[in-house]
Amino acid sequence: MIELDNVGYSYGGGELLSDVSVRLAPGSFHFLTGPSGSGKTTLMKLCYGALLPTSGTVRAFDADMRTRDRDEMAMMRRRIGVVHQDCRFLDHLPLADNIALPLMVSGHDMGQENANLRELMNWVGLSDRADALPPELSGGERQRAALARALIMSPDVVLADEPTGNVDWEMSQRLLQLLLELNRMGKAVLIASHDLGLIRAAKAHVQARVLRISNRQLHLAGADL
Ligand SMILES: Nc1ncnc2c1ncn2[C@@H]1O[C@H](COP(=O)(O)OP(=O)(O)O)[C@@H](O)[C@H]1O
Ligand SMILES: [Mg+2]
Repeated sequence: MIELDNVGYSYGGGELLSDVSVRLAPGSFHFLTGPSGSGKTTLMKLCYGALLPTSGTVRAFDADMRTRDRDEMAMMRRRIGVVHQDCRFLDHLPLADNIALPLMVSGHDMGQENANLRELMNWVGLSDRADALPPELSGGERQRAALARALIMSPDVVLADEPTGNVDWEMSQRLLQLLLELNRMGKAVLIASHDLGLIRAAKAHVQARVLRISNRQLHLAGADL
């Protein structure tokens, strides 16, 4: 689904990623670890086309990111759900509208989509928060809302950037269960996290591959983790 082939990424400050190759196949489950600043968020951005590699190739759904025009890029982005590290919402809009925003922007008939929206909010446990404004939400509610927003377009791939960064253990387990369930539904899942407890917990349920960025390169972590 998403393939990085000998990908390098450099910016003014130097080379951040070098010779990275990885394939996110349908139904696969990956963790991405590495110290803060090692390039996890950057690697995710390369996966969904927010950044283009400075060398090598990124393909999503069998097409090179570089050859897509704007419309094709927009179509591709609908198939990739992203939970951003700093999940931002429009603070003046109720939560339900924030989650539905990707649908509205892409011109869906909201009348038709209402049942989907309610089902999704129920699934993440936010049915009773539909009318709340984002500033009123707890950390765990924000993360579940960000997940719901990433899923509203029914993507094939879910990329979650430190989704349990600001929540307690119980909530991180709850988020993990949601991500595991998505994977069981056939979606490819990639989670950036340096929470080893979370990774161990996941490995009890799924054959997760653990990728680690160190010295600008991507390594497959051993089974000892
Ligand atoms: N285009 C850029 N310009 C300046 N700095 C960048 C750019 N891209 C990445 N960086 C830097 O590279 C480092 C890696 O960032 P990031 O991918 O966010 O790492 P992580 O998510 O692992 O913490 C950070 O120090 C960031 O400031
Ligand atoms: Mg990051």
